[in-house]
Amino acid sequence: MTRFIKLFTNIINMSSRDKFETFKNVFDNKTLLTLFKLSSDGYFEELKSPISIGKESNVFNAVKKDGSLVCVKIYRVNACDFRKMYQYIAHDPRFSGLQKKRRQIIKAWAQREYRNLLVAREAGADVPTPYAVRDNVLVLEFIGDKEAAPKLKDKEPEDYKKFSNQIIKNIKILYKKGFVHGDLSEYNILNYKDKAILIDLSHGVKLESPNSQELLERDIKNVERYFLKRKIKMDVQKILKEMKK
Ligand SMILES: Nc1ncnc2c1ncn2[C@@H]1O[C@H](COP(=O)(O)OP(=O)(O)OP(=O)(O)O)[C@@H](O)[C@H]1O
Ligand SMILES: [Mg+2]
Repeated sequence: MTRFIKLFTNIINMSSRDKFETFKNVFDNKTLLTLFKLSSDGYFEELKSPISIGKESNVFNAVKKDGSLVCVKIYRVNACDFRKMYQYIAHDPRFSGLQKKRRQIIKAWAQREYRNLLVAREAGADVPTPYAVRDNVLVLEFIGDKEAAPKLKDKEPEDYKKFSNQIIKNIKILYKKGFVHGDLSEYNILNYKDKAILIDLSHGVKLESPNSQELLERDIKNVERYFLKRKIKMDVQKILKEMKK
């Protein structure tokens, strides 16, 4: 019980409006139990503050026993557009046989992000290290110092060329490992001290998936569009050719 109270002390102390926003659709009983189990396994002691209240997930930072921070991403079981999620994940050979049940789909979605992060990290890509996944909750490396690193959309890089090359380098690493990010844009790239960190890999699909090439082009074009606005030109066709060599 004490552990349970400690886990949520910060949340309990939040203002009621913030609390409403945070609790809304995210802390159902099963999710509370999952958080409790992860905490018992030592992944974190206390949920601190929300970093992002999104459509599909809520992201918090949490403190470990040694005082270091981790990131906890909780997929919303109730608010998620699970029908759309099912369509996205149904083609993924890793999740064949998945039934169209809300909780199962959301669990698969969290699993997919965990696995994609693991493969990407092991291949040397600049993504947060995943630590654990359980049901709809993912624990991963916190990118930032005290504050979470800003998204690329909120912080301009010092050196555009260098930053765009870092992104392309990472897209290539993922491709070599057999998958594409699938939802890449300035919203899913963090600018951590001028280093590009790719996040939100839950949409990541294997190259065998029928839509992988379309998603790859979309990812690169989103990056191209961002940099073109800043007068940095990228040769998308050349990048694609290089990747497929
Ligand atoms: N590892 C991390 N370290 C620091 N901040 C993070 C980390 N992961 C996510 N964030 C913050 O939380 C926000 C939301 O995370 P993310 O993009 O993974 O979820 P989302 O957009 O809600 O996911 P989805 O697209 O599936 O709805 C990010 O934009 C970023 O600001
Ligand atoms: Mg995102």
